Amino acid sequence: MNDQSTTSLGTPMQDAARDHLWMHFTRHGAYEKGARIPTIVRGEGHRIWDDTGKEYIDGLAGLFVVQVGHGRTELAEAARKQAEQLAFFPIWSYAHPSAIELAERLAAGAPGDLNRVFFTTGGGEAVESAWKLAKQYFKLTGKPHKHKVISRAVAYHGTPQGALSITGLPPLKADFEPLVPGAHKVPNTNIYRAAEDLREDPKAFGRWAADRIAEAIEFEGPDTVAAVFLEPVQNAGGCFPPPPGYFERVREICDEYDVLLVADEVICAFGRIGSMFASIDFGFTPDIITCAKGMTSGYSPIGAMIASDRLFEPYKKGTNSFLHGYTFGGHPVSSAVALANLDIFEREGLNDHVHENAPAFRKTLEKLLDLPIVGDVRGEGFFYGIELVKDKTTRETFSDEEAETLLRGHIDKGLFEAGLYCRADDRGDPVIQLAPPLTIGQAEFDDIEQRLRSVLSEASKHI
Ligand SMILES: Cc1ncc(COP(=O)(O)O)c(C=O)c1O
Repeated sequence: MNDQSTTSLGTPMQDAARDHLWMHFTRHGAYEKGARIPTIVRGEGHRIWDDTGKEYIDGLAGLFVVQVGHGRTELAEAARKQAEQLAFFPIWSYAHPSAIELAERLAAGAPGDLNRVFFTTGGGEAVESAWKLAKQYFKLTGKPHKHKVISRAVAYHGTPQGALSITGLPPLKADFEPLVPGAHKVPNTNIYRAAEDLREDPKAFGRWAADRIAEAIEFEGPDTVAAVFLEPVQNAGGCFPPPPGYFERVREICDEYDVLLVADEVICAFGRIGSMFASIDFGFTPDIITCAKGMTSGYSPIGAMIASDRLFEPYKKGTNSFLHGYTFGGHPVSSAVALANLDIFEREGLNDHVHENAPAFRKTLEKLLDLPIVGDVRGEGFFYGIELVKDKTTRETFSDEEAETLLRGHIDKGLFEAGLYCRADDRGDPVIQLAPPLTIGQAEFDDIEQRLRSVLSEASKHI
C-alpha cells in the first residue's frame, strides 16, 4: 500500500523507491524528508545516466564490479541463450555444463594447484564458505581444534555473520553482536599511517606487518588457528597494497603454523589489479581464493571459493562431504555470462590493458597531491584510494564530526554535481575510492582527475 501522507518526490518511481525499497547500507532519513533518491536507469561503457537524464562517469564500476563496462549486448545474449537452454538447475549432487566449464576455466587461471571451485552467489558467501571449509578440513585431518581466523583491521569481508566476524570494522558489527567467535585482528598494511621509522622503509614495514600475523597465531595458540584472510590490496581504509616481501613472509608463516592462507579477491580478481587473480600479480599462492564481483562484470550474480587440491583431498574419501551450499550457487545463467565475460577479457586484452595503463592512471591521480586536502594517493592496477587530511605536513586526520561534514556535506554532493560516481568512504580515515571499468584510458583518467580537482578544491574551502 502506498503511504499517501508523505509529499511526492516528483515521480511515481521516486515515491515507490522511498516507500518500498530498502537500500543497503543506506540512511533513509533524508529521503523521508524529501531528498531525491539517486536512481540509475542506464549504462553504456564507463558512463551511467540517472532518471533525470544526468550523465556520470562510473568511477567505481558500480561497486568494483563492471569490469568490461556497461551495455554489452553480448553478455545479455549469453544470458538469454542459457535461460532458453536450461534456466536453472542446482549443483547439489548434480552438475550442468556451464558450471563445469566455468569451474575448469577458473581453475586454469588460478595460481598453483587451486583446482577445485565451489560456487556461491556472491563474495560474502564465498568468505563464509572458506571459513567453514577451513574448520571442516582440519576436523577431517586430525587437527580438530583449529577453527579460529585472523584478518586485518579495517578490512571488509562481507555481511553474513561469519564474514562479518572476519570483517575488521567495529561500527559495522556492534549492532549484530554476538557474532561468530574466534575471529582475531592484526594491523593492516597502511604505510601512510605506519610508525615513523617504518614509513620510509616499505620492506621493513612489510616484515613488521606480516610478523604481527605470526604473533597473533602464537597468542591464540597455533593448534586453534585455521586460516588467515587477507585481500591482496585491502579496499576498506582506501587501498592498501602489500609492501614488498609481505605476502612472501605471510606464506612462510602460514606454512610454519599449518594455517590456511585465504586471498579474499572479491574486489581484486578479474583484472582489477591486472591479472585474472591478484595473487599472481603479487607472486604468492594462497590455499583458497574467494572471488565474485568482476567474474560476470555484474551482468548476473555469482561468486566462488577456489580451493587447493590438498583441501579437497579428504572429500575424495568414503562418505565425507562438505555439508554446505546455496540454491543459486553456480547458477547456469550466471555461469554462462561469466564465460562470455572472460571471453571479452581475452579478446580485448583487458588484463594487458590494465598492466600497461595502471602507471598512467596513478600518475594522473597523483597530480591531485598539489591540493592541501590530499594526503596520499595509493593503490595498484585500476584501483586507487585518495586519502584526505586536515594537515598534510603532520598527516593529521579529521575528527568524526569533521569527516561527516566534509564527506557527506560537501564531497558526496560535489561528486554528484560534477557527474562522477565514486565513493567517499570514512570507514577508516576519509578516502575517495576509484575502481572504474577496465576499458578506460588516458582521456578518462584526465577527466576523472579534473572532476576530482574541482570537487576537492571546493570542499577544502570548508575545512
Ligand atoms: C573483499 C571483500 N570480501 C567480501 C565482500 C562481500 O561480497 P558481497 O557483497 O558480494 O557479499 C566484499 C564486498 O565488497 C569485499 O570487498
